[in-house]
Amino acid sequence: MPNKNLIFKILKKAQKEKFAVGQFNISNLETIKAIVQAAQKLKSPVIIGTSEGESKFIDLDQAVALIRSFREETGLPLFLNLDHGKSSEYIKEAVDSGYDAVHFDGSKLSLEENIKTAKEIVKYAHKKEILTEGEISFIGGASEVLEKIPEIKEEDLTDPEEALRFITETGVDSLAINVGTFHGVDVFGKKPHINLQRLKEIKNKVGDKVFLVLHGGSGVPEEDIKEAIESGIVKININTELRLAFTNTLKKILEENPKETTPYKYMPKVIEEVQKVVEEKIQLFGSANKI
Ligand code: 13P
Repeated sequence: MPNKNLIFKILKKAQKEKFAVGQFNISNLETIKAIVQAAQKLKSPVIIGTSEGESKFIDLDQAVALIRSFREETGLPLFLNLDHGKSSEYIKEAVDSGYDAVHFDGSKLSLEENIKTAKEIVKYAHKKEILTEGEISFIGGASEVLEKIPEIKEEDLTDPEEALRFITETGVDSLAINVGTFHGVDVFGKKPHINLQRLKEIKNKVGDKVFLVLHGGSGVPEEDIKEAIESGIVKININTELRLAFTNTLKKILEENPKETTPYKYMPKVIEEVQKVVEEKIQLFGSANKI
């Protein structure tokens, strides 16, 4: 385990004090600004995530340089995580570029294959003190407004025994679990309830050996988020709600001001609206004043 890594220490603190650190996904500078401003205002640690697609758009090295620059400027514990890395080659590139953490999503592989690849990635990342996240049960959807939300059956949820086996054999620091969430929101911006019973069974099985991660955080009812944190979740990923705040605000401004062409004039309002969402999540997750 990368004990010297500050992100590891903060997640340990979250485990002990029962709060969660938000992972907020980005693919541009404006969203980073919104997240950093929210973290600064509320004195909260934050993880900035890029999926493979997002990181290919912003560029791995540029993402690292930007986060490093904001970290130096603000002194905040800001971390960069590669979210849902599918290939070990790309994950290794992120490690080499200077990401603070990497998530290997092998949830579509057989458990044996997933364990084998995760083990290799953990070995590579830990040599450089980089935090690793694994995933065993596929979490569906996409970070957008879904026409049809995925149907999640009991057998799709993470099995506590498999979770224990996966973390023991791979040595991952964090584990993304399926407890009924999916990526994206329905047309009403909502999600069904989390299966808290299953979450508690997983937590009982794995204890404090791993950081439990909730993916698909957008649209989850507030009460469920609070109970999930109480039951052991220490990291929550949010993407769709930020994308919606960004895109809807931008559309509205340009519709109302069709002659507007100057990004630095219309972007501050977009940043402000994204920042509001991040602030709400930080308050909900209990990570304010935790630095
Ligand atoms: P949402 O898009 O539902 O917030 O999920 C984000 C996520 O889990 C990124 O890994």
